[in-house]
Amino acid sequence: MSKRGQWGSRMGFILAAIGSAIGLGNIWRFPYVAASNGGGAFLIPYLFALLTAGIPILILEFSLGHKVRTSTPGIFGKIKRPFEALGWFQTMISFGIMVYYVAIIGWSMNYFVYAFTSKWGIETKDFFFNKFLQVSEGPFTLGGLNKVTLITLVLAWLINYIILRGGVKAGIEKANKIFMPLLIICLITVMVRGVTLEGAAQGLDYFFKPDFSKLLDLKVWIAAYGQIFYSLSICFGIMMTYSSYLPDDTDIVNNAFITGLGNCSFSIMSGIAVFSVLGYMAAQQGVSVSEVATGGIGLAFIVFPKAINALPGFNGIFGAIFFLCLIFAGLSSSMSIMEVVVSGTADKFNASRTKVLTIATVIGFVISLIFVSGAGIYILDIVDHFINTYCIAISGLIELLVLTWYFNIEGTRKYANKLSDFTVGTWWNKTLIYMTPILLSMMFLFNTYIDFTKGYEGYPIKALLVIGGGTVVIISIAALIIANINGSKEYQRMISEGVDI
Ligand code: ALA
Repeated sequence: MSKRGQWGSRMGFILAAIGSAIGLGNIWRFPYVAASNGGGAFLIPYLFALLTAGIPILILEFSLGHKVRTSTPGIFGKIKRPFEALGWFQTMISFGIMVYYVAIIGWSMNYFVYAFTSKWGIETKDFFFNKFLQVSEGPFTLGGLNKVTLITLVLAWLINYIILRGGVKAGIEKANKIFMPLLIICLITVMVRGVTLEGAAQGLDYFFKPDFSKLLDLKVWIAAYGQIFYSLSICFGIMMTYSSYLPDDTDIVNNAFITGLGNCSFSIMSGIAVFSVLGYMAAQQGVSVSEVATGGIGLAFIVFPKAINALPGFNGIFGAIFFLCLIFAGLSSSMSIMEVVVSGTADKFNASRTKVLTIATVIGFVISLIFVSGAGIYILDIVDHFINTYCIAISGLIELLVLTWYFNIEGTRKYANKLSDFTVGTWWNKTLIYMTPILLSMMFLFNTYIDFTKGYEGYPIKALLVIGGGTVVIISIAALIIANINGSKEYQRMISEGVDI
């Protein structure tokens, strides 16, 4: 097998793991999900999901990555050969996320530049959809390629390529050591400016004010679990891959707690930053915060530019710093997402990392061209929804069934404890064997029911089935095909050795 990379320090690993977890999801998804699902009360199911699913799964994935020292498909393949398909399913999920994630990083780069002159003007919605993205009339009308977004798409791929080419220590670790401190500085700047604005208190009130009645609503718990999986980068290959680069002497439980809590603290800080600015904007417009509150792409590229326009001073710099947050958070996640693909493929075919990286980047780039077409945003929205709602839930469920019911969960707990300063009790086994699989199944069934009865964002059912359903089918078929290729002789030998834990 080709020599595997290794983190240069414990700090390097933790920064990379937190860097992967903290991403676009923390900045634009968390604040709105929290505010619309009980505000301050949402923190209860959220922290509950973190402690019963997020951190336990991090411990599980860190332990197996460290023990087996190969990429995700190899880990599952060693447990039992047919399970390698699950590893490829996770790898393909990562590839699916990567191709649209880079497009959003690209848009953030465009908006970083636009911020200095408020190029988006007063009608930020019209600017975003019609002038910037030049959207077509529907998801099946591709339209031409948009040169402006194409340039930043190329740039985003190129930065990822350069970082990953450097390998684990000189590439990923070094980049995170630069990006993460910069990200924190930028977020704190936005937060401090935000909370000192007039009207910020109303925004924070909206964000934090607990509505405890929401705790009786199943939807709120499902939203909390959903947010935890995507946000912690669990169950799509990343954390197993990253921990396969850990040195022998490391800590598992502590690292998992630091990663989980670090990610959630960042999310709460993002919520404070976003809602204090929205509170200010609502006060300026004389409307309630609920009227301006939104999440996702609408928050970043429509509402925030509007809020930036309304600021009393330093609008350009403030706007640029906000978009820098998205760029740094996005890149530190995208490099981890792409590393799953590179590492899995290089391990299986005993191929050079650089060669695999180059080929995967070219293929990924060609696919992501769809997101700089006129239908890009529709397709992105549907693909993101389906990957989040279905692929990650299915992947998480099967992963837990395989690792807890089939594999040796008690052995894994002992392995993690042996390496860790503080240990986990058998509660850990129970949450992973029973609780999280039940919640993931409920999440899957509930979301399927909602999509089938209410649809998603008003898209025609045909678009959801062809684009969303098609994504799930393609990811599954690609996973099965690659899993059934034998791979190099070294890989086959390694797989046949199994895992002794
Ligand atoms: N964990 C990454 C995010 O939250 C994928 O965006």
